[in-house]
Amino acid sequence: MLSGKKIVLGVAGGIAAYKAAELTRALIKEGAQVKVIMTKSAGEFISPLTFQTLSGNMVYTDMFVPTAKYDMAHISLAEFADAFVIAPATGNIIGKIAAGIGDDLLTTTIMASDKPTLICPAMNDKMLANPLVQDNINRLKKYGYVIMDSGYGELACKTQGAGRLPDASAIVEEIETLLTPKDLTGQKILVTAGPTEEPFDPVRFITNSSSGKMGYALARVARRRGAEVTLITGPTDLPLPPCKKVVQIRTAQEMYAAVLEHFKKSTVVIKAAAVADYRPAVLAKEKIKKNNQPFPLMLERNPDIIAQIGKSKGNRILVGFAMETENLLANAREKLHKKKLDFIVANNLREDGAGFQTDTNIITIIDTSGKAESFPKMTKIEAADKILDRIKEAIRRKGKSKK
Ligand code: PMT
Repeated sequence: MLSGKKIVLGVAGGIAAYKAAELTRALIKEGAQVKVIMTKSAGEFISPLTFQTLSGNMVYTDMFVPTAKYDMAHISLAEFADAFVIAPATGNIIGKIAAGIGDDLLTTTIMASDKPTLICPAMNDKMLANPLVQDNINRLKKYGYVIMDSGYGELACKTQGAGRLPDASAIVEEIETLLTPKDLTGQKILVTAGPTEEPFDPVRFITNSSSGKMGYALARVARRRGAEVTLITGPTDLPLPPCKKVVQIRTAQEMYAAVLEHFKKSTVVIKAAAVADYRPAVLAKEKIKKNNQPFPLMLERNPDIIAQIGKSKGNRILVGFAMETENLLANAREKLHKKKLDFIVANNLREDGAGFQTDTNIITIIDTSGKAESFPKMTKIEAADKILDRIKEAIRRKGKSKK
């Protein structure tokens, strides 16, 4: 999703400088062009050759290098960039930028730039907590710099605390957010994702193959586009997206309770979760012992969550998914009307590259007029964008009809 984007990565002199190599790789993998500026002290921790090899570009370390072509690096890098990221950002570099000091290539380039800039502080926890550093961070925020929260955990000095450089994937997510137009600002979007698990004894349960990828993609893209996102998720192996609120549930009944609690505060509800329609009627206290007899399992209905909230949805936009293996459009249309949805996203598990587990999906969006729009195979992130485009359109139409 960063394909064609030009990122200038500033690396300052902290032990986490080695992690900037991983970040460079991740950005290149996402399709970005990366140019790296290193401070003099960053060179004490990691070699420019590492970044040159990973980025495929020369690495900028010095203001005053004579070049064959007249080119003021700090100006040309500021013009080249779509966005800047400083990772790791030391207390020193944060202080210099906040004070308007430009005494090396990185600080002068930042001073010459009007591009969106993400700053990722990484340092010892006491340094980070120092009121001077905090004042400088707040000053940078005031001037529009985006400051990423540092991670908590074991630091290089072996203490536990805040000050770790977040993982490369989390920084890439923040860069995506920085570069995405905020056309869903003001919307409060509730997304459900993943499977539910319905236990019948302490070690066994019924579930399905949902990985959570479709719902998590929706949560990520909605946040990137400026919405305040609440994610209600069943058990998955995925890293949690950085939403305003994440509620982790196990069973359909827990998901029902969580949706009821949060849906009133939402303007949009998207139900991508694969909810179990049935649960075992009895939950054994102890592990059920096997014998040679067949094992009948009595099931009872779970609440149909989306149908329940459909009854009192008010002016909210309600979007469901239809997961089908046959008669995709007919079954999806039936669910759309029965559950009082604004539109439904149909996907056929029998199609290669659609449905459970894959990073791609093949979706058809059907609205209440009966119109169906089918999309080719695309990544779940791209599919999420298409769904959110439709939501934006539905919000606009509802807004108009209220006037
Ligand atoms: O998680 P992934 O591996 O990425 O896979 C994505 C997906 C296939 C799970 C997703 O794209 C999808 O289709 N999700 C909906 C799955 C589903 O439960 O479909 P359904 O046709 O059974 O249900 C219709 C709608 O009613 C859904 O929005 C569902 O969330 C909702 N529902 C269903 C049952 C129930 N008890 N309560 C509900 O709210």
